[in-house]
Amino acid sequence: MHDEWTEITLNVPTEDLEEALDLFAGKLASPVIRQDNIEGARRAAMGDAAVDDDGVLVNGSLSVAVDKFRDIVYVESPYERVFSESDFDALSPADVEQFHQSYFAPNNMTIAVSGDIDEDAVRESLRNRFADWTPQELPERQNEAALKNMTELDPGALSAYDVVFVGSPIHAANIAKEVGEFLGGIPESSNLKLAGFITHAGAVYPPQDLEAMAQPFSNACQEKGIDYKGCFNCQGYLGDFMHEAVQKMQNLTDDEWAENVKQMTGHPDADDEANAKAFAKSVLS
Ligand SMILES: Cc1cc2nc3c(=O)[nH]c(=O)nc-3n(C[C@H](O)[C@H](O)[C@H](O)COP(=O)(O)O)c2cc1C
Repeated sequence: MHDEWTEITLNVPTEDLEEALDLFAGKLASPVIRQDNIEGARRAAMGDAAVDDDGVLVNGSLSVAVDKFRDIVYVESPYERVFSESDFDALSPADVEQFHQSYFAPNNMTIAVSGDIDEDAVRESLRNRFADWTPQELPERQNEAALKNMTELDPGALSAYDVVFVGSPIHAANIAKEVGEFLGGIPESSNLKLAGFITHAGAVYPPQDLEAMAQPFSNACQEKGIDYKGCFNCQGYLGDFMHEAVQKMQNLTDDEWAENVKQMTGHPDADDEANAKAFAKSVLS
């Protein structure tokens, strides 16, 4: 099991190829899924590498190498998360069975064969073994997502992501200063997609104002070659500590201000969340 794919590998001498393909096809189509297999996977994933009396690694060097590789390439990426015991505690044979039935489909996999082989013969052999296996509809893709506090994230780390949503409250008709600084620190990237989202206390902003407020997101993307996916906006709630000052600044009577507070209260609400979800879906599709 890797980050977004499952891998089954067999390494065999060429003369055992046909037998290996039988095993391979069997493993793919009807693997044995039992609690003791899950326990085996837990031991393999959690097992400490064996070290001899001189501290030299004698077993488990591959998993150590893979761990080190992940530590280096996946730093600050959603993939940096590694298995824990509790992941295996939560896994039942029925879960694994369901995963297998959902995702192990011919329209969702790639078979690669390399070595001292006759390509035409291997293709024919694979076709025969998988002829009855029909494509199936796959579950909707669940994206791996991580919610990060901007103050704890180095903008340079964003190049490890596919898509980022950068959020900001509106302060004085602009995105917050800290968010602007964060956008300035994002490196150039032709692989990254970026969408903004803003919350504001004002109830109704004309589209041109909202567009102007989202401008720092699109400008940053344009400067850095990032694919800009638009900006979501949503009614927010002005912190109580600001009420008196803003009421005074806007010269509103108590009744008018009470009306303002009423329309801000409870946001973001269920509708706002549904709209945000729809926006996120459109960005990811
Ligand atoms: C200093 C400051 C300035 C603000 N200026 C505006 C503004 O110009 N327009 C507006 O609609 N909301 C303004 N707001 C309200 C914020 O946009 C609102 O509090 C925010 O969207 C709610 O998100 P939060 O809970 O993360 O702060 C301001 C808030 C603060 C604290």
